[in-house]
Parts: sequence; C-alpha cells; structure tokens
Amino acid sequence: MCGIVGYIGTRQAAPILLDGLKKLEYRGYDSAGVAILNEGTITVEKTKGRLKNLYDMINGGKKLPGTVGIGHTRWATHGEPSDVNSHPHASESGRIAVVHNGIIENYMKLKDFLIGKGYTFISDTDTEVVAHLADYYYNGNLLETMVKIIHRVEGSYALGLVSSDHPDQLIAVRKDSPLIIGLGEGENFIASDIPAILKYTRNIYLIDDQEIALLTRDGVTLYNTYLEEVQKEVFTVDWDIAAAEKGGYEHFMFKEIMEEPQSVLNTVGPVLRQGLLKFDTIPDRISIVACGSAYHVGIVGKYVIEELTRIPVEVDIASEYRYRNPIITKDTLVVVISQSGETADTIAALREAKKQGAKIFGIVNVVGSSIARESDEVLYTLAGPEIAVATTKAYSTQLTAVYLLALSLKKAMGQLPPEDEKHYADELMRLPDLISEMIEQKEKIQYYASKFFNAKSVFFIGRGLDYALSLEGSLKLKEISYIHSEAYGAGELKHGTISLIEDGTLVIAVATQEKLFEKIVSNIREVKARGAVVLSVATEGCEMIEECSDGVLYIPKTDPLFAPSPAVTLLQLFAYYVASLKGCDIDKPRNLAKSVTVE
Ligand code: F6R
Repeated sequence: MCGIVGYIGTRQAAPILLDGLKKLEYRGYDSAGVAILNEGTITVEKTKGRLKNLYDMINGGKKLPGTVGIGHTRWATHGEPSDVNSHPHASESGRIAVVHNGIIENYMKLKDFLIGKGYTFISDTDTEVVAHLADYYYNGNLLETMVKIIHRVEGSYALGLVSSDHPDQLIAVRKDSPLIIGLGEGENFIASDIPAILKYTRNIYLIDDQEIALLTRDGVTLYNTYLEEVQKEVFTVDWDIAAAEKGGYEHFMFKEIMEEPQSVLNTVGPVLRQGLLKFDTIPDRISIVACGSAYHVGIVGKYVIEELTRIPVEVDIASEYRYRNPIITKDTLVVVISQSGETADTIAALREAKKQGAKIFGIVNVVGSSIARESDEVLYTLAGPEIAVATTKAYSTQLTAVYLLALSLKKAMGQLPPEDEKHYADELMRLPDLISEMIEQKEKIQYYASKFFNAKSVFFIGRGLDYALSLEGSLKLKEISYIHSEAYGAGELKHGTISLIEDGTLVIAVATQEKLFEKIVSNIREVKARGAVVLSVATEGCEMIEECSDGVLYIPKTDPLFAPSPAVTLLQLFAYYVASLKGCDIDKPRNLAKSVTVE
C-alpha cells in the first residue's frame, strides 16, 4: 500500500526521494508524486501511473532543486487513480504539503467543517483534509499544528509534512500505519519501510503510535501528543541492501523461492538448538488469526496443533474476527501470523483479543513491526525482506513456525519424549533439503506449467492438510496469473461445485497424506469421469495417484505433518511459471498491495 519517503539534508532531495520510492514499488501503487521545498516555495509534481512517468516528468529529480522534500506512491482508496488524487496534497495557500498512508475515517465530517471555513477541495481523497486542516490550525509552529491534526483526525495514518515557512524542518507522525525514521549524518529520513533508506543509513527509530518526529538536518527529536520529548533506542538494521534487490534474477518472487531453504533453516535452527520454546502455562484453546496466505498457514496450524497436542484450535480471517464477537478468555492463546506485521485487520484483531485478556503469540517476519511490538511473545520468521507482493518464503517460514509452536506446546505438556523430540527435530532440519529438491525439479514443474497455462479455470482439491495446502496453491496461482481458481476439500466438490467440471477443466489434486490416498483417488476419478484433466501433486511412491492422473509432480517422503513444506514450494513454482508464460507482472500483480495497511 502507499509508500512514503521524506528527506532533509544537504543533497538534492528529489533524486533521493525517487530512489526511495522505487524501493517501495513492491508495496503496490497507481500514482506517484513529490513535493520539494526550495527558496521558500513548495513545488509539487505528481502523476498517475508508474514511477517512471514521474521520473521522466522531473528528469530523474534534476528538474527540482531543493534539499528538503516528501514523496509518495499512492494505492487508491478514496477516489480513482488520477493526477489530482495523487499525493502530495498541498494547502490552498501552497504553504503546506502532506503525504499520507492510511485512511482518515472522519474525512467527510472534516471536509464539511473546512468547506464551512472557506476551503476549496480539488481531489476526492481523504488526505486533502489533512493539508487544509494543517493550514487551518497553523500558528507558525509545526509541532503544535501536528498535535491539533492528531486530535481531529480519526482512522489510520502515517503522515509526512513540510511547510515553506520552515525550510529546516520535516515533520512526521504515525498511527496504525507504518513509518520509520532514518538517522543519517547531516541528513535524516522518513519512510514506510527500511529498503527505501537502507542505502543511506542503517540506524532508525521505530516510532510508536502518535509519536511525532521533528526532523532537521542535524537531528531528530521525538515528542508525544503533550509535546514532551520521548527518548527512543536506535534500532540498527542488520541485513544488507542486497537482500532487498533482485540479485540477477528476473523476478523477486523467483529469487525469494530460491531463498526458502536458507530462510527455513534460519527460522528452525536457533529454536531447535535452544530446545524449543518455553511455555509456563498451557492454553485451554488456541485461536489463530491472520489474513490471506498467513491465514492459510493458520489452517495448517490447526491440523498440526490439534493432531500433536489435542488443544482445540480455531482459525479466523482477521477481518471477520473482531466483528463476530469471538469467545476469548484469559486461557486462550491467540496466535497472530503476519509477514509484514503491519496488516491493519490483523492488528485490529490482535488488539481486540488483547482487550479481552488473551495472551498474544505473534509469528512475524518484520522486526519491530506493530504486531511484533504488541504481541506478548514473538517468534520471528527469519525470511529476510520479502519484496514480491505474493508471499513465498515468508509463507514457508510461517509454516515452520507453527510446527515449532505445536512441538513446543507438546513438550510443555510433557508429551514429547526425547526420542519423539529427536524424530521431529530431525525431520524439521531436513526440510531445507527437501525444499531444495523441489527447486531442483523446476524444469519439470515448468513443463507442466507450459501444458496448462492456457487454463481458464482451475480447481485445487485435497483432504486434511492437503486441503489447507490447496488453499494456498490456488491463491498463489490466481493472484499472479489471473486465472480463476478455487480450492475445495476434495470430498466437498460433489456438494455443488462438481457441476462446473467439464471437458478439459484443470483439476490439481494434492495428495501428500498417505492415510487419505484412497479417498483422494476416488475424488480424482469423480472429476475425470466428468472430463477434467488432472495434475496431481503426490508423495513419492504413491502409484495409485499416477494411474488415474494425467500428470504427477512428486514431493519426497517426510513425516506427513511436514509435507506441506516441500509441497508448497512446488505449488509456488507452478504458479510462478504459469504467470511467467502468460507474461504477467509477477512481482506487482494488478490491484494488489504488499502490506495491507487499511481495513
Ligand atoms: C498472498 C499474500 C497475502 C498476505 C496477506 C497478509 O500472496 O501475500 O495474502 O499473506 O495480505 O499479509 P501479512 O502476512 O503481511 O499480514
């Protein structure tokens, strides 16, 4: 979702802003713009479409002199993608310019109020109210103006603001939307995410909700809403910029799949070396809450945790959770899964659960993100930065995190004798090799992708863990290739959906769970009898599946609970090759954003 970059220093700001925005492209956007402060005047340049349009418009930034500025990539929420709706938005006086990520929920009320005060609106955005509100409250002091804005606006926001009256200041604040402050030498930065500024500094402040950052060239001071100074530790980024670059691969998604064996090893190794996670109390119930792919990990988690511990587990889509009046007690462990740690719905669900007394266990990839900070315990997935919009390596590490959670609970319950612990630990440590074996099969996967990339509609079917896996395989395929695809519990198909199967419909049957082989074979026969073409994903040695399928891709044998791990890599590669053959924009699929910071 929207990306923000701001700079104050001694170098020309515009090229630095463009460079930072480029690094935030992965978040998804449909327009871009910058506001540069120079010799007492703010110049705003913005345009619909790709960043390249803005780049050309301002000659790579050279056209705009000035050493202070703010930049933005917009993912439209209020108002269509257009030049006028693009950010930055300026006050009518031209004295103030602002960039915003989030949603101002009471913007209609504020708009009416400001119109009543004589302000004219030119865009359809919620953000424009902030520009006019800033102008309305401006009393010569940017900090005081910001406090007044915070008191009036409701919703979520990361804001960057400059004023022509203050050529030596850049001011920023956040609430429920990500924003970090970069600390340089004689220059300072704001950004929605670390890659945007990592080229310039590794030292950052992770500001909390409603903390205001006042940046000058020489330093950054943080304030609360009473304008008292807040002290904060400097967080040092320990990963390299190369981790957020393509490194010779054509797409981030492919590079990130290639990184899965290492990411899984990084996540599993330290926990196993320390003898699993410690739990002082055992929850009565577990509630897993997440969105999208992370939700699919939660479904795997339900099967695995219930199988290993017999603790009842429910799984919720975060956007539904808080509106269904969930039953939460202090003995409920709420497991929140998120790559970005900034997904608005997941944060809201976490807060709801916390309010009702639950203990929160976060499985998070981004260190210092909101979910990481607000959880009682965090298990970090060490996937490193994930840039492609469609998650791959983060999903794989989240899977291993739920395995670790399940085993840790089992051990804390006194149900994991040393020989069993060794068995599971050995199997977990094999996963990086099994994933590598999948990657080695990539030509074969590409071959099947080339056979089926013209499919109009695809059904993924599976039972048990294979159903959970089908959900992710299907999402991966549809989101990047735009082929309509659905996942069904294989036994459920005949309760309605089978009527959609006709000659040539592609069905992908997932069959990694040995105890269910015969059942899924029956389901394959059912769809074949109605004309479907079946590509199966099966565990090595399962000849029954081969006999009834039109093609089979095999995963190596492992403990059945861990089969989703190599199998998902296979499904990710299949989706990747299909999208590649269709010529899709794989890393930035249409309409999607990486970090969904609005409800
Ligand atoms: C799909 C995908 C999304 C995310 C979802 C949650 O490929 O990436 O479905 O899984 O938006 O995002 P996080 O994990 O950042 O909370």
